[in-house]
Amino acid sequence: MDAAPVQFGQYPPARRTIVHVSDTHLLAGNTPLGGRYDTAANLRRTLESVEGLGIRPDAIVFTGDLTDLGEPEAYVALRGAVEPVAERLGAPVIWVAGNHDERSALRRDLLDLEPSEGPVTGVWDLDGLRLVVLDTTVPGWHHGDLDDAQLAWLRGVLATPAPLGTILAMHHPPLPSHIPLFDILELRDQTRLADVLTDTDVRAILAGHLHYSTSGTFAGVPVSVAAATCYTMDLARPGFDVNGMDAGQSFHLVHVYDDTITHAVVPVVDAQTAEYFSAEWVQRMAALTAAERLEAFSRKPGR
Ligand SMILES: [Fe+2]
Ligand SMILES: [Fe+2]
Repeated sequence: MDAAPVQFGQYPPARRTIVHVSDTHLLAGNTPLGGRYDTAANLRRTLESVEGLGIRPDAIVFTGDLTDLGEPEAYVALRGAVEPVAERLGAPVIWVAGNHDERSALRRDLLDLEPSEGPVTGVWDLDGLRLVVLDTTVPGWHHGDLDDAQLAWLRGVLATPAPLGTILAMHHPPLPSHIPLFDILELRDQTRLADVLTDTDVRAILAGHLHYSTSGTFAGVPVSVAAATCYTMDLARPGFDVNGMDAGQSFHLVHVYDDTITHAVVPVVDAQTAEYFSAEWVQRMAALTAAERLEAFSRKPGR
């Protein structure tokens, strides 16, 4: 399904590719979220876009708020929507808990585990790239935290570096937001996490929770927040007046290279798209020498 990798520039093709999706917020019976948003339909559109990428990702990561109320039926609906797509793409699905989730139902109805209120954590080996799932949720609350036990566990995991380094996936991002409501619901005591990450092989942090795409650094580690599939925040307003809208949904395409990791925002839209570039065009370029390619595609006419 993937086109043969080509290298026209100085970087070899990415070693790993991850699809980063967030905040699906499904409800039992597909009740409209907030009386307005068809979360199942919006997830379906996102998954269609993921399949349209024409790639076989190394993983599909969902960074929390998988359901809106933690209802068992909503987790069953989520698997019903996502698992067939993941199977067709040959990719593992990595689930992260969010503040809208309920740990017991998530374990039982999504992960086929014994229900318990313990944090939902895990370590995945994506052929040398380690992905660590943290659980920043606090049962009964919407703000985030990481307790001593989970931080100690993380410290132990990170004590041994992985061949291609480590990516953390968590719901609450360790970043500020310019929107006041998110400060109330932030990840608390972030310096404790920063302390654990110092001098480790963590190369990126994937997060959600904000329902808009943003990025920053935390303890020197790049942080990338994917927007939501359900609804997004209308950022074209003053911070105090930001509210949700049924538009602007997107997910992230994460490319892991030897020396860097990129996070491309993929808009989920129905828009007329030009058809100039194609596999045939790439083949034509691949048949040229590097100097011929520059002449054919970089040279400005008449200069
Ligand atoms: Fe959310
Ligand atoms: Fe959240």
